[in-house]
Amino acid sequence: MNMKIMSKVSPAAVRIVIVSLLAIILLSFTIDHVRPLSSIRSGTALISSDPSQDTHNATLGFGEIVYLSMPRRSDRQDSMSLLASWAGIKLNLIPGVDGFTIDKEAKPDNTPDIIGGSVLGCWRAHANAWRHMLEADYDTLLILEDDIDFDVNIKTVMERFSKQLRNNPLRLTPYTDHEIRTAPYALDWDMLFVGQCIDGINPHRPDIAHVYEDDTVPPVDMIKSDFVRLLAQVGLQEDEIAGKRSITPTWKPTCTMGYAITKRGAQRMLLHMSYLGLNHPVDIEIAEHTQLGELFGYNLTPPPFSAWRVGGKKDSDNKANQDPNEPMSTAGNRNGDSLNIRVSARKAMVHDLTFDTWEAYEKKWPVAQRKAESKAKGLNLDFKPRPDLEWKDDEEDKEDKEDD
Ligand SMILES: *[C@@H]1O[C@H](CO)[C@@H](O)[C@H](O)[C@H]1NC(C)=O
Repeated sequence: MNMKIMSKVSPAAVRIVIVSLLAIILLSFTIDHVRPLSSIRSGTALISSDPSQDTHNATLGFGEIVYLSMPRRSDRQDSMSLLASWAGIKLNLIPGVDGFTIDKEAKPDNTPDIIGGSVLGCWRAHANAWRHMLEADYDTLLILEDDIDFDVNIKTVMERFSKQLRNNPLRLTPYTDHEIRTAPYALDWDMLFVGQCIDGINPHRPDIAHVYEDDTVPPVDMIKSDFVRLLAQVGLQEDEIAGKRSITPTWKPTCTMGYAITKRGAQRMLLHMSYLGLNHPVDIEIAEHTQLGELFGYNLTPPPFSAWRVGGKKDSDNKANQDPNEPMSTAGNRNGDSLNIRVSARKAMVHDLTFDTWEAYEKKWPVAQRKAESKAKGLNLDFKPRPDLEWKDDEEDKEDKEDD
């Protein structure tokens, strides 16, 4: 049958069919390749990027990072600039506020008299950060205090957190296009607690928790007991806690060493903790509004930002609570410590930045070898033993003192 039909079709007709088929194939091929090119030129689509990777940038994937520090604590500002620059992070200072300088008229409506001094100053510094957020042109702001430490792999810690928030089983709302395209931490929250010192979950809803693997979390004996307790409450056995973090809706965060806010978060905070009043210290106030359902966020436990502690007076900025006989610092930065962190950035920084030039010379040109060489060359060099490197009160110092 087929053969018969074929034999009836003229060779000219076959040629026409083949040529038109080729033309159609060629045309569709060209169209397919023209469309993408034009969209590259117009600068849209096609350039696919994963916002989670932005957590490796200088602001850890946030619009900006600020830190709060009392102007008189230049020691802490030095540490923060040093640590940030070493870790490849960009920080901007928001000066802390002395609560005693705040006018009575500037206190929120009906603020009780016990909210004064350093409690009021602390609130004001945070409120200034919220205001800064509203005046700025980005989606998120990370607010840190000036005595923090974090893991050397902080960027990886934040990337893992970002991936969880971009596939978040605890979400109440669908992802928006804007979040999918640009938001490393998504944007369905008012605040993200990443530096609380005590934690808590809603006791009625221990089921609303999401646990994920993160091998930067240290062994359980290096984690503060409050966080161990929370991880147990969401169902982890003690031997499962190392290497895991949990995301839970914020309930009772204490301390404000590290938290991020969105624009809506900044608006709600200024509304509830300035425009409408202020009843408690700022972290307790945040917890209260969260429990009332007026503020919403997530807590990361254990938190990646932790307090660096050196012992003594230097650990607190609350002069009112200080014992005048307390020593300035017991351990000092050289022996300070931080909990919940596997490899402390502050410790690693000291190790990395300290260098002994003379030891390097000794490695490259050992004294014994150089002595022999110089002797062979007929030189008579006077090599002294190494302990003289320790600086003592030498002759010049004594002369200076006599001159005074
Ligand atoms: C880091 O990434 C975030 C999110 O994409 C962005 O808003 C921010 O500007 C970036 N920071 C820097 C320093 O490029």
